[in-house]
Amino acid sequence: MSSSVLLLAVIFIAVLIVRARRRKGILPPGPKPIPLVGNVLDLTSRELWLRASEWAKRYGDIVYLHVFGQGLLFLNTYEVALDLMERKGSIYSDKPPLVMAGELCGCENMVAFTRYGDKARRQRRLMVKALGPNAIPAYHPLLEIETQQLLKRLADDPKNHETHIRRYAGTLTLLVIYGYRVTSNDDPFLNLAEECVDLLSNDITSGGGIWPVDIFPFLRYLPSWIPGAGFKRKAIQWKTKMEEFVDKPFELVKSRMREGTATPCFCTTLLDEMLDKDEKHAEQDFDLRWTANSMYSASLDTTVTVVLHFILAMLQHPEVAKKAQQEIETVVGLDRYPTFADRAALPYVDAVMSEVLRWGTPVPLGLPHRLMVDDIYKGMHIPRGTLVFGNVWNMTRDPEVFPNPDIFDLERYMEKVDDETAHKRDPRNVIFGFGRRRCPGLHLIESSLWIVMTSFLATFDIKKEVDERGDIVEPAIVFENAVFRTPKAFPCEIEPRSARAVTLIREQAAST
Ligand code: HEM
Repeated sequence: MSSSVLLLAVIFIAVLIVRARRRKGILPPGPKPIPLVGNVLDLTSRELWLRASEWAKRYGDIVYLHVFGQGLLFLNTYEVALDLMERKGSIYSDKPPLVMAGELCGCENMVAFTRYGDKARRQRRLMVKALGPNAIPAYHPLLEIETQQLLKRLADDPKNHETHIRRYAGTLTLLVIYGYRVTSNDDPFLNLAEECVDLLSNDITSGGGIWPVDIFPFLRYLPSWIPGAGFKRKAIQWKTKMEEFVDKPFELVKSRMREGTATPCFCTTLLDEMLDKDEKHAEQDFDLRWTANSMYSASLDTTVTVVLHFILAMLQHPEVAKKAQQEIETVVGLDRYPTFADRAALPYVDAVMSEVLRWGTPVPLGLPHRLMVDDIYKGMHIPRGTLVFGNVWNMTRDPEVFPNPDIFDLERYMEKVDDETAHKRDPRNVIFGFGRRRCPGLHLIESSLWIVMTSFLATFDIKKEVDERGDIVEPAIVFENAVFRTPKAFPCEIEPRSARAVTLIREQAAST
């Protein structure tokens, strides 16, 4: 069959799908599609959330588009996201079947790609048990130690701040999930993990783009040796690498447990329980090794992105950093680091963190959920199979909830408001997604980000760079990503606040 005949067949099927859907009822509003191809020209692979928020202004709380018959739904307010993704969670919690990433590259068992059903529920139970709110205080000492190591590296080599933040995110996850302590930048597990996360975000998931085989699934049957089937040859290589990433650290934990040398962590907690019961052993072992690995992949870019947003915010608002530093000095003094026990006495620092999370919006469109059956919402028909995005960017910029939303303004968290407004203003209720797929790492990362930001403010100043002529270099701030809102590298000066801060950084790092 020639490729033009195939294309015609696909277009014909798309037309039939679109017609059948129209017959079932009125679709939600959205930009007018072009016959056959739909809204393919309306989409963009960079910062789609900006365009989606323009559609929100024009068409309202819920916007529908389609590309070759594949429905895309944007939920633009918190209320609508709750109505559908949370209250109707039993039908809005599936994930799209990705042929390339899932089936061919073997990532279908990673939590973020798992189809909704028994396996997804089993994985969720594991994550809630080990990372639920009650489990987090046990990780506090470890978070404090890793933060102190991060600050030491920043003091020694401030220019490479992004490398150090990335290493912090990676080492922390290896420690929490596998009980594995990284001791050098050249650590084999850290390198393997970095390589695989990079592979996953930029190659396997096509950097947020779409592989032709995901639109035309029959391409999966092409023999891998024929011209045009390069994606199958790549998939074989990538699958092997990903399996190594899943199996190696997990097997290490198991062998250390047999020797009695394992450090308590997510895997040991759950393996202990599993070995106690010894029922359905193979299934549990499989679930656990994939769930553990998914944690690593999901935490790296998100953590790095938020810490970079924090540095950017402090760079642009030195007056906020000063006030936060004064609060820390009053409560903690200058001779020790803040600890989690100080948190309740540091409301201004908490407000800094809330505004960084809102203003930065690290995952502006969340990750798509797939609707499992036809649905009706406020008289509108939402077809089965539609991919549903919570438009978090629009929610964190809602002027009703956040007056002057483009301004970095802490006062919105300092004023006394009723409980409902306080709930709506807490960005944690939207930035981690919605319903049954909401981020399971949120309690861990909330604590991790708090201790990093507070300890950073206690010991460092962040300033704009000054060039040879003595002029201030205004940092160019550029975002051009598809999924995470990670800023491109920007210049800044990070320096210890005083000789006393240098002593604290060095002494603490040496004692851990
Ligand atoms: C600031 C940091 C983080 C942000 C902003 C963030 C945000 C998100 C968002 C928006 C989702 C999609 C939720 C949905 O589908 O509705 C998600 C999923 C997920 N996150 Fe996070 N995350 C962060 C850190 C972490 C960490 C540290 C871990 C693990 C330790 C983690 C593990 C996961 C996993 C496994 C999923 C997939 C859940 C599923 O599909 O069932 N995340 N995260």
